[in-house]
Amino acid sequence: MTAPARLIAALRDGRVPEGEALSGFVRGLVDGSVTDAQAGAFAMAVCLKGLGRAGRVALTEAMRDSGRVMDWALPGPVVDKHSTGGIGDAVSLLLAPALAACGAYVPMISGRGLGHAGGTLDKLEAIPGFRTQFDPAEFRQLVSAQGAAIVAASVDVAPADRRLYAIRDVTGTVESIDLITASILSKKLAAGLDALVLDVKVGSGAFFAGMEDARALARALCDTANGAGCKTAALITEMSQPLIPAAGNALEVAAVMENFADPKAHPALTEVTVALGGEALALAGLAVDANAGGAMIQGVLADGRAGERWGEMVAAQGGPSDFLSNWRDQLPVARLVRPFVAREAGIVAAIDGRALGYAVIGLGGGRRIETDRIDPAVGLSAIARIGDSVAVGDPICLIHAADEAGLAAAEAELAGAFTLAETAVAPPLVHERIA
Ligand code: URA
Repeated sequence: MTAPARLIAALRDGRVPEGEALSGFVRGLVDGSVTDAQAGAFAMAVCLKGLGRAGRVALTEAMRDSGRVMDWALPGPVVDKHSTGGIGDAVSLLLAPALAACGAYVPMISGRGLGHAGGTLDKLEAIPGFRTQFDPAEFRQLVSAQGAAIVAASVDVAPADRRLYAIRDVTGTVESIDLITASILSKKLAAGLDALVLDVKVGSGAFFAGMEDARALARALCDTANGAGCKTAALITEMSQPLIPAAGNALEVAAVMENFADPKAHPALTEVTVALGGEALALAGLAVDANAGGAMIQGVLADGRAGERWGEMVAAQGGPSDFLSNWRDQLPVARLVRPFVAREAGIVAAIDGRALGYAVIGLGGGRRIETDRIDPAVGLSAIARIGDSVAVGDPICLIHAADEAGLAAAEAELAGAFTLAETAVAPPLVHERIA
């Protein structure tokens, strides 16, 4: 294998290494011969200099092949969705059971919090007893019995991503089209999917705030996945504010549970879930087009079939068997809850999504270093939406904290997070489709 330091120096100087050198480096991530320092330097060099199309494809394939590539023999199409990351983005928890209730099989391999963005696995682990680590035989059994399972990339599936992801999370090296593409698609292509829908987030709570970057990421993802034989489309969706009025692990699960009971509880979450689900069902051949697929998703959310499937998934993954009906008594709650109030009157015109994400990390709901333990109870709730009008002293959100120090840190982070103005226009939730 090319010595890691030589490969990193080549990247630093703007030269894209050969595919063989990249796959050697990826093998080193898995067997431990690449150190954390080298992995961090590699990620930073890719962030700053890029890999180009050929390098991106080579890195994705090497990371996919760093572990087991699954295949399925199931009586329906194998489908998934993946988000590029945001705050208050709990779509996966609603969509996986909804797709399963529509006849798809969903082996969802998810991630933990990354940078300022929350992670599906951290949210799920807020549910008492919920397990995300399974061996391949158990994963297979969960997917065939419940139609869907949401699990961590195990030692078997894309282990190179598991290591690099954790290092990127704490080294400021998330915002790279090449690294995001390789990270997402290594897991998704290893999961043996027939179809994949990607939720590419844009706005202040996403990794890329501007449309041009989001489009470039969506194209890189679709190009690489379709090139590898997985039918893929992407929707560019709005992330200038959370989809639900909550950020923080148990608080987001609570919002999802409210939506299972009533899909009108959080309309933005429902709209994005329906749009992505419609695309996924159409790509998988279960619906004639995305509109018909969207209507199917809406149907199973409204008649309770998605909720029932979710209850079965939670129980099968080790959570409480009565979670669907008794979730309020089972989610952890923070010791202190205090309103964060408006100092002036106005209409909420903009929200700094990153500041919300960092406020959650400051409270202990995300990681500063890889070994940090997460407090699932902390976070923000009742977050105002763009267009809401507030008077002086009105709460803009509620801070849920373990102690006074956490409260103070969150208040400092939130100080400039909400821009008030005389008027405001909420942006559309779904911007573009890329295939
Ligand atoms: N989701 C992932 O799995 N990886 C990334 O890099 C970003 C979002």
